Amino acid sequence: MISFILNNQTINTESHPGTTLLDFIRYGQNLPGTKIGCREGDCGACTVLEGTLDGNTIKYKSIVSCLTPLGNAHGKHIVTIEGINMKGLSPVQKAMVENSATQCGFCTPGFVASLTGHAMAGENTSYDKAIASVSGNICRCTGYKSIEKAAKSISVLLEKKDVENPINWLIENDFLPAYFLGIPGRLNQIEPTIIVATKQIIAGGTDLMVQRPEEIAETNINLFYNRQDLKEIKEEKDRIRIGSACNATDIMSSEILQKYIPGTGAYFKLVSSEPIRNMGTVAGNFVNASPIGDLSIFFLALNANVLLKESNHTREIPLKNFFLGYKKLNLKEKEYIDSIVVPIPKPYSMFNFEKVSKRTYLDIASVNSAIYLELKGGIIESCSISAGGTSPIPKYLGEASRYLIGKKVTNGTIIKANEILQEEISPISDIRGSKDYKRLLLRQLLFAHFIKLFPENISINELLS
Ligand SMILES: Cc1cc2nc3c(=O)[nH]c(=O)nc-3n(C[C@H](O)[C@H](O)[C@H](O)COP(=O)(O)OP(=O)(O)OC[C@H]3O[C@@H](n4cnc5c(N)ncnc54)[C@H](O)[C@@H]3O)c2cc1C
Ligand code: FES
Ligand code: FES
Repeated sequence: MISFILNNQTINTESHPGTTLLDFIRYGQNLPGTKIGCREGDCGACTVLEGTLDGNTIKYKSIVSCLTPLGNAHGKHIVTIEGINMKGLSPVQKAMVENSATQCGFCTPGFVASLTGHAMAGENTSYDKAIASVSGNICRCTGYKSIEKAAKSISVLLEKKDVENPINWLIENDFLPAYFLGIPGRLNQIEPTIIVATKQIIAGGTDLMVQRPEEIAETNINLFYNRQDLKEIKEEKDRIRIGSACNATDIMSSEILQKYIPGTGAYFKLVSSEPIRNMGTVAGNFVNASPIGDLSIFFLALNANVLLKESNHTREIPLKNFFLGYKKLNLKEKEYIDSIVVPIPKPYSMFNFEKVSKRTYLDIASVNSAIYLELKGGIIESCSISAGGTSPIPKYLGEASRYLIGKKVTNGTIIKANEILQEEISPISDIRGSKDYKRLLLRQLLFAHFIKLFPENISINELLS
């Protein structure tokens, strides 16, 4: 039995946990405000809000319902546009109308859901954050300027928001209907997780629900998304442990990650869009084994290990040994990823992540790369470089990394490292670019790492001379 609250209604359903939340909302509950666009997580027309109990309050985030297996809604408050509607227009809806930010209206429920989710966050809001909240929404009519204006006027209204008690403030100021106040008490009545012991694991669904939606809707699935035992990020002696069901948003907003890798928030903004980051997990990123998986590339350079579990047996292997060949993994049939462990970066270390894609947001990389360096007295003591989009697997560049150890950071060393790195990769031509273009891109990303980390020593003119 899957139980959750949909808007103001408690749902108890025996529907298959692998059907999409979108179809359940539209066809099962006859709520047509949530639109069907691409069904691939790209357009945001199907955006809804997912509220999760956190003590006595609820944290809301935007998700795409087209890729959400119904089972992932268990124990949650799901809010569609109908659940936001009141007698009059909310300030978010008013801002969209007054700024001509809606024309045909197909995308509008999705934009209103995303912007309302942004308003519900228990933190100070800003225009930039309002814009980031709609990074997963596409509009074919307005040309976006009017939507930007609406976001601006909403962010001005939200300057007065009580960040300690956002829901109360939003109800008092007509952003939300009053029933939201009673939701935490009602959610508390629902057992938080349902565990089904079958082979087919599904976490955020952002990969599987794109690749095999029909099959998932008929298969016995093992829902990992709400597994609290796999959601913790903690510091242990000299390592950081990240539960395998942590999503990109959990990682980019983790104080522990921010402490040791201060750029994490900015790097992860380049990963997909806000709703996809709110859903897609780190284990899903590794196991989908895409050669351009951003999280794989990020954690390869950090020398992460993966902890694999099967019944009571656990083994730990370096992430670089997890990828065996194109979509071939060092993962036994009954094993799953429990967590990943990252050595705590040394105080004298440096890290950088670069990604080139056709669009800045909501796009996968043409080529991506990360680098971790430990430096003492101007000499590189340790170095790990990873690259995506240039090999059949997310690639740890062992030869180039080894070459740099014991060297000074000079333009000449980096030029030589690039020559070695070019021997390690085997890009192919595809829709994201020709193999020569990808070789060139990776050279540029290697240069970009060093120009960013050593702006005084390294210059692009010297590197290209
Ligand atoms: C619109 C869109 C944009 C995207 N943009 C990006 C991007 O910019 N960068 C990027 O890297 N990716 C991107 N992706 C891909 C995807 O979101 C990520 O790879 C995501 O991390 C997958 O995680 P998930 O939890 O949703 O995976 P799921 O679909 O739930 O699962 C994927 C695979 O992992 C397996 N799995 C999940 N958890 C475990 C576990 N604990 N142990 C063993 N197996 C497990 C599943 O069985 C399945 O085979 C995008 C996807 C979409 C739809
Ligand atoms: S229908 Fe396009 S993101 Fe869901
Ligand atoms: S108003 Fe038509 S798609 Fe946005």
